[in-house]
Amino acid sequence: MRTFLHVSDIGDIEKALAEAAEVKKNPFAWQHLGRNKTIILIFFNSSLRTRLSSQKAAMNLGMNAIVLNVNGDSWKLETEMGVVMDGDKPEHLREAIPVIGSYCDIIGVRSFAQFENREFDYNETILNQFIRYSGKPVISLESATVHPCQAFADLITIEEHKAAPRPKVVLTWAPHPRALPQAVPNSFAEWMNAADVDFVITHPKGYELAPQFAGNARVEYDQMRAFEGADFIYAKNWSSYTEYGKILSTDRSWTVGKRQMDVTNNAYFMHCLPVRRNMIVTDEVIDSPRSIVIPEAANRVVSAQVVMKRMLEGLQN
Ligand code: CP
Repeated sequence: MRTFLHVSDIGDIEKALAEAAEVKKNPFAWQHLGRNKTIILIFFNSSLRTRLSSQKAAMNLGMNAIVLNVNGDSWKLETEMGVVMDGDKPEHLREAIPVIGSYCDIIGVRSFAQFENREFDYNETILNQFIRYSGKPVISLESATVHPCQAFADLITIEEHKAAPRPKVVLTWAPHPRALPQAVPNSFAEWMNAADVDFVITHPKGYELAPQFAGNARVEYDQMRAFEGADFIYAKNWSSYTEYGKILSTDRSWTVGKRQMDVTNNAYFMHCLPVRRNMIVTDEVIDSPRSIVIPEAANRVVSAQVVMKRMLEGLQN
């Protein structure tokens, strides 16, 4: 595996889930793969889970992990091509990326959508520069349009908790005071569309996801109707794709509470975290025994480890 952005990069989903179960059971069984290997994890944006779970996954595999906080620890990096660098950014990605590549075997990059230009974001302009100029395998640790390590962990969590062979999974928009990227819902939709689940997306009008991610998923604008009989509720806020980066609604009736959960099939509640309590979900729901946000976050180590393991196996060949 040379890149990890999309569900297609993982290949057969059932095989990936079986491998994840094996990795979870025996986390230190592949330490030989990472011996004398280094991963550099680059963060253009804040993180708790991705930073820690990626480091933990690398350590489980016997790798050295170096974390670089761009903007905090290093020179500010220019990302635009062809600009006159007369501003506050003294180094260009065009030099920084091959330099970083020369120090490591695998690179992970967190670089959120900038919301200035939809084409720049949806072309994954920054991540693709890492893929093009580093010469090393590259993992998206949530880039402009995708968060594949999260979506893979979500799928592992659903697999572990499902009672029916083909559970009903609902992705619901919920309100938030700030404009958030579409990366988490994009990847969740992409992975659920590929998995053997009955997948429904619910959101107010204007929050339709990009067609390449929504695929053929059923869209239901009535949240209560979408929740009926659901086995898993996945809540997330995102800003508009069509009116790019805009907040079109702050309707608190979309906050996931007991009223909505009562019409489900005693559904599990999921969220990628961090979550704003009583905006996205009520205390009552997230603190209930059906909330699985903590095991979901714990599975971030497993998903990252499967991806890094496959990249390390690729380096052996
Ligand atoms: N879910 C997630 O990616 O969390 P962090 O932003 O804390 O890494």
